[in-house]
Amino acid sequence: MTKLVPYARKRVAILASGRGSNVRALLEAQALGRLPFARIVLVLTNRPTAGALDVARQFSVEGILVDHKKFEGDRGAHEREIVRVLASRKIDIVVLAGYMRVLSGALLDVFEGRTINIHPSLLPAYPGAHAQRDAIAAGAKVSGCTVHFVTSDLDAGPIILQRSVPVNEDDTEETLSARILEEEHVALPEALRLLCECRLKIDGRRVLRVPPPEDTRPSLLIATGNQHKVQEIESILDDIPFRIRSTNEFPGYTDVEENGKTYEENALLKARTWHRRKSLWTLADDSGIEVDALDGRPGLHSARYAATNEGRIARMLDELSRTKDPAKRTARFVSVVAVCGPGGVERVVRGTCEGRIAFESRGNGGFGYDPIFIPDGFDGRHLAELGDSIKNTISHRARALAELRPHLFEYAMR
Ligand code: GRF
Repeated sequence: MTKLVPYARKRVAILASGRGSNVRALLEAQALGRLPFARIVLVLTNRPTAGALDVARQFSVEGILVDHKKFEGDRGAHEREIVRVLASRKIDIVVLAGYMRVLSGALLDVFEGRTINIHPSLLPAYPGAHAQRDAIAAGAKVSGCTVHFVTSDLDAGPIILQRSVPVNEDDTEETLSARILEEEHVALPEALRLLCECRLKIDGRRVLRVPPPEDTRPSLLIATGNQHKVQEIESILDDIPFRIRSTNEFPGYTDVEENGKTYEENALLKARTWHRRKSLWTLADDSGIEVDALDGRPGLHSARYAATNEGRIARMLDELSRTKDPAKRTARFVSVVAVCGPGGVERVVRGTCEGRIAFESRGNGGFGYDPIFIPDGFDGRHLAELGDSIKNTISHRARALAELRPHLFEYAMR
């Protein structure tokens, strides 16, 4: 069974067949920062009409339909297709939130111990598709919801947590379902949080709560005084098994003089200097914006082009004021990232993002020149308008870091 890596963000897929109120609860919990080690990246449904897909869209999360009807009764083939989709998105954890198909084996072969389900009763009472109706019919005074690990026995996997609600004498299936649903919206994010924090241990049929594992991750020092860059790098690399730290933790050191002739030289200079100072894995970036109409300027000097962000943007718009043709305002962001580590390890990667310079600032995301940069392929929207999740996939830094990512996984194991 594949183990979850403590303290790394886990990539989560939600499988849902219905309206998707639990999908919403999970995505809201994530937006509120209540799932620090989860990143919900996919909502998958087997029904074209599932409201869950609309919810995914509202939260800008990928939604995908794998329609069981297309598989003409071949359950195994449908499930294998789901597993293929999950593998292609590098999913770590699967959450079933109103997924109305029984899982036969292919999914559990890969995800057993990493798949959880929400059920609207206090299991083992009332398994199956009519839990609320069955509770009323049985005259139960209490019901509730259960989050459990999924096994091949229907609704019978090890129980993670439960929340109870009273069953009133005048309850109908609808009123009881609504009362239970409110508790589901608390229980499911809570269970996912515990699983992502590696706080659950399966012991036979029981699930034990265990203390958070010791944080044995090595440190990765980000050698920059620019807090925006640290945050951006941290959110792009939130799945790597390193504890990301910033040189701001270590005041009193002189700034590294960036006197290299290339981005590569500057990035290495910073990474080497801080690696020497602290003996930690160290990552440094040197980046710039190259404007073709300015013969590649400001390039290496982008940060020093003017004293403030506003000043830099104003100067660039001014220098380009006579270049009226948008096709002549082409530019690119360049990021070179260097890593230095113990034993003389050094690696340098480069990423670029092509686009052009706008005529005015737009958007409040990102930082630096983002408000006047229009990346290719995004309908003319400025980089600062795209939101972090898109920016952090297409930006120069994201591309450089994507190349570095597999090496970082390998370095963390050394
Ligand atoms: C919930 O009651 C859940 O317990 C059950 O299906 C329902 C899904 O509701 N498995 P929603 O689609 O999340 O609103």
